[in-house]
Parts: sequence; structure tokens; C-alpha cells
Amino acid sequence: MKTVTARAFSNIAFIKYWGNTDDQLRLPVNSSLSMNLDGIYTETSVRWDEALASDELTLNNEQASGASLNRVVAHLDSIRQRANIQTYAQVLSSNNFPTGAGIASSASAFAALTLAATQAAGLDLNKHELSTLARIGSGSASRSIPAGFVEWHKGESHDESYAESIAAPDYWDLVDVIAIVNSGHKAVGSREGHHSANTSDLQGARVAGAAQRLEICKKALLERDFATFAEVVEHDSNLMHAVMMTSRPPLFYWLPPTLAIMEQVRLWREVGLHVCYTLDAGPNVHCLCLAQDADEVKAGLAKLTGVEQVRSAIPGGAAHVISVSEG
Ligand code: DP6
Repeated sequence: MKTVTARAFSNIAFIKYWGNTDDQLRLPVNSSLSMNLDGIYTETSVRWDEALASDELTLNNEQASGASLNRVVAHLDSIRQRANIQTYAQVLSSNNFPTGAGIASSASAFAALTLAATQAAGLDLNKHELSTLARIGSGSASRSIPAGFVEWHKGESHDESYAESIAAPDYWDLVDVIAIVNSGHKAVGSREGHHSANTSDLQGARVAGAAQRLEICKKALLERDFATFAEVVEHDSNLMHAVMMTSRPPLFYWLPPTLAIMEQVRLWREVGLHVCYTLDAGPNVHCLCLAQDADEVKAGLAKLTGVEQVRSAIPGGAAHVISVSEG
């Protein structure tokens, strides 16, 4: 028996994933593009143990039960099937960012779990297969397997829907400066959100233009063209939130400070700072900027009303194994 510990970074999408064609397999309606967040990670240890009568999960030093345990058990089932084993697992997982800090943890969590659990089961999967497996646990987790700047190809089947690196972390010196406006906010989970995306009249229009926006964003990224990048990233985030707000029932993730920060980011850009915003399924604002402007953006955000905390991350690497121990 061996214990494998893996670490995976969270990621922020430039072109968003919102809605599935297959909820079970998490096949998305559109391809997406993201950047891993260095220093914002989940570390997970897995040991398959013949002596266990069920899977056990410890999350941030607390024994987990209920929905979070069920979701991990379902993911371990996929891995058991792939590895052709029946054994239960002991899973220890912790985030290096406070839970409830408003930073999504499912991407880093399921990427780390997939890598640790497959390695502990004696499988040595390539990045493509790890990404497809991680995707079943959480869609955005597929993007936390490869390094740096990542494209998730939507695909038409389980094997075709995977993420791959399009540029290494050091390709472009972008920084994600995160303005946390409400760490205690209980948002409607992404899973329900993906489910209701189709109830918005705007989802069809969002999806119809997604491939083109992805191409524009990818080209801007590869050419390090910040002005084009900023415009398409903000537009894509606005489109996703328009879909959320017009879903039935509607999902409003923004809080008053959220809108104020978005406005401020646009004003900063007008006066020459290289910064743009993007938001996930929550009220916190990810301010993507060039490294040269990061200190100014951080200082400016810290002064705004309603900003509780500012964190920042440069592009992060791939999910990786930290340690393997026998016994
Ligand atoms: C708004 O990957 O969290 O952050 O597959 O249900 O776990 P599940 O959803 P998740 O959805 C992420 C949605 C988003 C946009 C994005 O990251 O692309």
C-alpha cells in the first residue's frame, strides 16, 4: 500500500464554461480557456486500503460527510472502475486558501484527487487521460491538470473532452489580482448553475459566439496583445453573467462592491493601466493585469469600499505529485 500526495492549482477562466451537453460526463456546451493560479492550491493524499469498509474523507482537517463526501465517493468510483479495483480509499485534502475566501476549490480539488488517486492505484496516466477523468469530478478541474495557459476542448465524447496547455506559465507575465468582497457569501453552486443555463434566452447567443471569442482570446494571448485580450475577456464574463441573471430562477452573483470594482477597472484601463476584470460564479472580482501594473492594481483595490481582502497569483504550473510513501 502506498500513499500518494498531489498538488493542483486553482484556475481562472478567460473564456467561460457555463452549461453542459451531458451533465453526467460534464461535456460542456463550449470550449474554454484559462490560466492556472500559482500558490492557490489543493493538496490531497490518497491511500487505497483493503481494511476500509467505506471511503473516508478529511477536508481541511475535518471529517467530511454529506454532499462533499458523496461527490468524492462518486469520483473515486470512476477511478476504481478505471483501475479495476474494489478497494476503498482514505483521502486527506486541504486547501492552502481559507474555505469561504470566495476562491473556487472544486477545480484544484478534483485535479489533485484524480492525480493522487490514480497514482496510488498504480496507474500512470498521461495528461490527456488525467484531464478527462478530472473533468468528471468537476468540469473546470480538467483545466487544472496541464500547466500555465490552458484550453479545454469541449469534444463530443468522454475521450475528446480534455484540456491541454497552449502556453507555459512564463509565456506571459499576467497576474490575477483577486478582490474578495464577501468571503462568507453562500453562492448557488456551479452545478445547479450549469443545469439552469439553458433556461436563459441568452445562452444560445452566448454559446453561438464562444468559439470565435476563444480564437480571439487565444490569439491575443499568444501575441501578448493586452488590449484585445482585455476586451474579449470582459465581454465573455459579462455574457456569462447575463445568462446567469436571465436564467429561471435567476442567479445574481454580483454585490454592490462587485459592480463598483468593475467600473473602477474600466477607468484604470482608460488611464493606461493594463488591467481587465472577470468573474466566476460569485461576487469576487478577478483583475487580470500585466505584472508591471500589479502593485498599483493591488493598492488601488485595497482602498475600495467593500474589498475585504486582496490576493494575487501569477500563472501556475501543472498538477504534480509531491510525495509517495510506502505503507
Ligand atoms: C463560472 O467547474 O465549478 O467558474 O463542473 O459543476 O464542478 P462543476 O462546475 P465548475 O464550473 C465553473 C464555472 C465558472 C466558469 C469557468 O471556470 O469556466
